Amino acid sequence: MGKGTASRVLVTGGAGYIGSHVTKLLTKKGYEVLVVDNLTGGNTLEPKYGYFERVDFGDEERMYKLFKSFQPQIVMHFAAFIVVQESVVNPLKYYYNNVANTVRLLSAMHRAGIEIFIFSSSAAVYGIPEIIPVPETAPLKPINPYGETKAMIEKVLEDLSKAGQIKYLSLRYFNVAGADPEGELGPSYNQPTHLILRALKAATFKIPYIEIYGTDYPTPDGTCIRDFIHIMDLAEAHILAMEYLLEKGESLVLNCGYGRGYSVREVIAMVKKVTGVDFEVREAKRRPGDPPMLIADPSRIKTLLNFKPKYDDLEFIIRDAYAWEKRLN
Ligand code: UFG
Repeated sequence: MGKGTASRVLVTGGAGYIGSHVTKLLTKKGYEVLVVDNLTGGNTLEPKYGYFERVDFGDEERMYKLFKSFQPQIVMHFAAFIVVQESVVNPLKYYYNNVANTVRLLSAMHRAGIEIFIFSSSAAVYGIPEIIPVPETAPLKPINPYGETKAMIEKVLEDLSKAGQIKYLSLRYFNVAGADPEGELGPSYNQPTHLILRALKAATFKIPYIEIYGTDYPTPDGTCIRDFIHIMDLAEAHILAMEYLLEKGESLVLNCGYGRGYSVREVIAMVKKVTGVDFEVREAKRRPGDPPMLIADPSRIKTLLNFKPKYDDLEFIIRDAYAWEKRLN
């Protein structure tokens, strides 16, 4: 196999929301995928695509053995805890899993001679950005332990890369939403905290109302603004990232967003339009740790990876998420 090709990919967290969509796309494109997941996150079901091993990615010896037997060319690391508020209340849980276990994973990879890595980072590394849309060159100033864990691993990766031990792409996700347009996969959190998922729970009468956390932000309608990216565009970005890394061998950090923001009120209005349900909305106080505005500057991913989003449309994102939510009923 020459430079620029891969046939085997190991995916941690491949039973989860983002990992499962990327695994499906990889499989459809002909890659052999080994999913490693301990099934303790949102999804407790075995993944629909790829081979599967129920393993904790922080178990260095078992991961080392899997690397030696499966021999992936590349590792995509999705497995992580992701709830910002929980990370504030229980920081050790986050540092243990997202940082310490990821270091163990990197150690197992290094020992097995695998040096290509794609990391699920987050816009949370920016904290409250001074420049909007935020470029990758903005300073990293996380405002919660979750964001700190992602920034710490980015630093580890930078140092490993300088030491010639890894080639990586760190993808800083903005607000990932939507579901597989083919209806096979979608988010599967029991008690979602994310805006679109909560609004859909209200629209399908699983919760009595939705709260808007803060209406006094310095934004046009007083509510926070976010950049929502469709899960399948994000999945496609991973394929492009992998191909870039294999071809050019150059480590990079890339924002994954569309460069356009919607306010919480706009999102709720769109959920009402799509579902046709006028659910109750209450105004509540601010949720701690929410930046007023998070919008990606996506120029780098568009230029370097030739990333061309297909689903850059809030209505489409919510339609797919709604179709999935109805399937969960
Ligand atoms: N919101 C509400 N009501 C809800 C849920 C959310 O008003 O019931 C608001 C939040 O306060 C926030 C916006 O909707 O202003 C978006 O909140 P989400 O929870 O959907 O998403 P976040 O922007 O908090 O989370 C995202 C990523 C995280 C990342 C974080 C960085 O999902 O991984 O951005 O700020 F850490």
